[in-house]
Amino acid sequence: MHIYKFLSLSCLSLLFSRASALYGYALIRCQFTSPHDYVYLEQIYFNKVLLGQYNSTLGKYIGYTDKGKEVADELNKSKGFLEQEKKNAEKCKSNLPQIFDLLSKTAEPSVKLRSVKAASSKHSGMLVCSAYGFYPKEIRVTWLRDGKKVTSDVTSTEELPNGNWLYQLHSHLEITPEPGEKISCMVEHASLMEPKLYDWDPMPESGVNKIAVGTAGLLLGLVLVLAGLIFYKKNKRGRELVPTN
Ligand SMILES: *[C@@H]1O[C@H](CO)[C@@H](O)[C@H](O)[C@H]1NC(C)=O
Repeated sequence: MHIYKFLSLSCLSLLFSRASALYGYALIRCQFTSPHDYVYLEQIYFNKVLLGQYNSTLGKYIGYTDKGKEVADELNKSKGFLEQEKKNAEKCKSNLPQIFDLLSKTAEPSVKLRSVKAASSKHSGMLVCSAYGFYPKEIRVTWLRDGKKVTSDVTSTEELPNGNWLYQLHSHLEITPEPGEKISCMVEHASLMEPKLYDWDPMPESGVNKIAVGTAGLLLGLVLVLAGLIFYKKNKRGRELVPTN
């Protein structure tokens, strides 16, 4: 009866014994295996050994050790315990729709293409295609050279969990780019209706243009300021020369 109290209180309860350095805990699990299947478990551990557990599929408590079996017999005789467990299992079941709604959601990867220093001397360059923040985990990132799939000199990381249900992956392509060829990174994911292509821009002209436009603007500004200054000075001198009666 003592253990029963602990179980119904919280998900994880620690039972310390001060005399000996033993400790035990109860673990409540609500496991979902498919949109319609679930199992509600209450497990009792002592010194890391599973003594026994309540399994909602069986509808009773099972002991795995001598002590566990003793406790199981006692708990299974208690109508109150079994009724409470049924209620807990119902609560577990009521979360099924929300859980599977959550699992069916997708998050589209945000993709970045960049170039880094080559790792080997075989090729002059290396491109990295990074996909960030996607869900679910399954993703396919491939490289295309003028529309043809590249298979050699490609290395990829695993899908790395961010710890917030989202994943990231980085694919590396070692390459000696040839002039005029088109290199793309293709991403296939459940969040995308069709594969998405990201083209590599070897000379990001937009950056060059920005500098050119900025410089031209600065020069024009300087010319205008100078012209204004000269005009102002001339005007002032002119006015001074006019005799004032
Ligand atoms: C719960 O009991 C069912 C039926 O015996 C069994 O198939 C399932 O594996 C049990 N679950 C666990 C986690 O032990």
